[in-house]
Amino acid sequence: MKSTICLNTHSLTPSIGEEVTDIDLSKPISRDASDCLRALLGSRGMIFFRNQDLTPEQQISFASNFGEILVNPYFASVPGHPAVAQVLKEPDQKQNIGERWHTDNSYDVAPALGSVLYAKEVPPTGGDTLFANMYAAYDSLSEGLKRTLVNLRAVHSTRHIFSKDGYHGSRDTDGRIRTTETNHREADHPVVITHPISGNKALFVNPGLTTHIAGWTVEESHSLLRVLYEHAQRPEFQCRLRWQAGTIALWDNRCTWHKALNDYSGYRRLMHRVQIQGVQLH
Ligand code: SIN
Repeated sequence: MKSTICLNTHSLTPSIGEEVTDIDLSKPISRDASDCLRALLGSRGMIFFRNQDLTPEQQISFASNFGEILVNPYFASVPGHPAVAQVLKEPDQKQNIGERWHTDNSYDVAPALGSVLYAKEVPPTGGDTLFANMYAAYDSLSEGLKRTLVNLRAVHSTRHIFSKDGYHGSRDTDGRIRTTETNHREADHPVVITHPISGNKALFVNPGLTTHIAGWTVEESHSLLRVLYEHAQRPEFQCRLRWQAGTIALWDNRCTWHKALNDYSGYRRLMHRVQIQGVQLH
């Protein structure tokens, strides 16, 4: 499918993901181009660009077209650039970062709008990222389940992820992820949000960071969340991004999930990530 907007684009799958060609992100982009990219992001969830060559400053400058830059306290950063997180796995390390389906920073009261992820070093094969469309996940629920979800909120937290005995604390991510006992974040959001740009409804719970439905026990929540997660993982809602060194992806956290595949044992994978601040969700 060719987009009708002002940039040259190609859809990765019918549901999600759009490649934008003929644009050099190391240079300032025009107001028209950034408006087009913002609209594309809200509709296609993830947009990507091949063969880019950016300094950390240029990556920050590109991300700034979409909002304020958000500094993530849990990730090691590129030396001298606190706003550029390193998403790294060395050849001898077993654990990658972001292997479970998740939505970045859903534990914040105003969750990240999205991330600009830049592939610096990639394995010869493997290390792809899957993205899933949460508009499609919501739209295809039954009307009955949609009615059940209407007034529910869900709690999202860092405690089970970034504590010393949490998901990352108990794995070999030391030095890459900063675990903490004190600096935790927690927030609740509607289970179904209205996307601030597109105005469409999207499912906003995720397996990585959502702990329970507000006002329900963890056990009670588990049954409903399991049904929603299984449904949202349908392959037709997904795309798979094959990285090359120089690929940049920008995704919208409010209408997508993502998952980094850990299938490249013995190789280094290094990505630079800049996050963009979002707004409170309704
Ligand atoms: C992330 O979860 O933000 C990183 C995804 C990836 O490394 O592909």
